[in-house]
Amino acid sequence: MIVGVLNQKGGVGKTTIAVNLASCFAQAGCRVLLVDADPQASALAWSSAREAEPAFVVVGMAKPTLHREIPALAKNYDVVVIDGAPRVNELARAAILASDMVLIPVQPSPYDVWAATETVQLIREARIYRENLRSAFVINRKITNTAIGRDFASALDQFPDTPALDVALIQRVIYAESAAQGLSVLESAPRSEAAREMKRLAELVFPRHERQAA
Ligand SMILES: Nc1ncnc2c1ncn2[C@@H]1O[C@H](COP(=O)(O)OP(=O)(O)OP(=O)(O)O)[C@@H](O)[C@H]1O
Ligand SMILES: [Mg+2]
Repeated sequence: MIVGVLNQKGGVGKTTIAVNLASCFAQAGCRVLLVDADPQASALAWSSAREAEPAFVVVGMAKPTLHREIPALAKNYDVVVIDGAPRVNELARAAILASDMVLIPVQPSPYDVWAATETVQLIREARIYRENLRSAFVINRKITNTAIGRDFASALDQFPDTPALDVALIQRVIYAESAAQGLSVLESAPRSEAAREMKRLAELVFPRHERQAA
């Protein structure tokens, strides 16, 4: 299973979701590879900040040919998570072509909905070659008890080929605090709501019964 976490918009939570998803799958016993496809190398920086033993392998591959290299690498893993780069179309295209499923993090703001069009369009182009490519929005940094937080999912209905997953990641300081130590929220706060919502996301992306069958 190859999951791309992609959005041409910067700062929406791609790296946060990629490292935490990778950690969920690793904790569940999967062999996990995290591909840092961003020249900013944030996922690599996350893993260098870490004192603990690595929980999974992180490699840097910010190049437009990565879709040709990932399939051979993926053979040795149960799950590959790709942390995408913002803005660069060639890198996004390659990451989309490499993926079985693309997750698009969006924050509950009209700016994020407008900007999502670009990534959805790249996915539509990739479906010409990859008919079975799946895509889904992940609402990130939702602020609880706000009208926009409640009503936001319907704003994404304009993209019928990319549903919003039935989970929202809440705005929580623990995400940045854990990242500072190169940890996932599952490691730094295993019983937290953040860990619970990340595990729910992992289950929606690659359900346990499918992992066992793979
Ligand atoms: N659910 C959340 N709650 C609080 N802070 C968050 C959450 N998700 C992400 N952040 C913070 O938002 C900032 C941007 O997140 P992140 O780096 O994951 O985005 P990105 O899409 O990878 O950015 P870039 O496009 O630059 O690669 C970071 O400071 C991160 O800690
Ligand atoms: Mg990033």
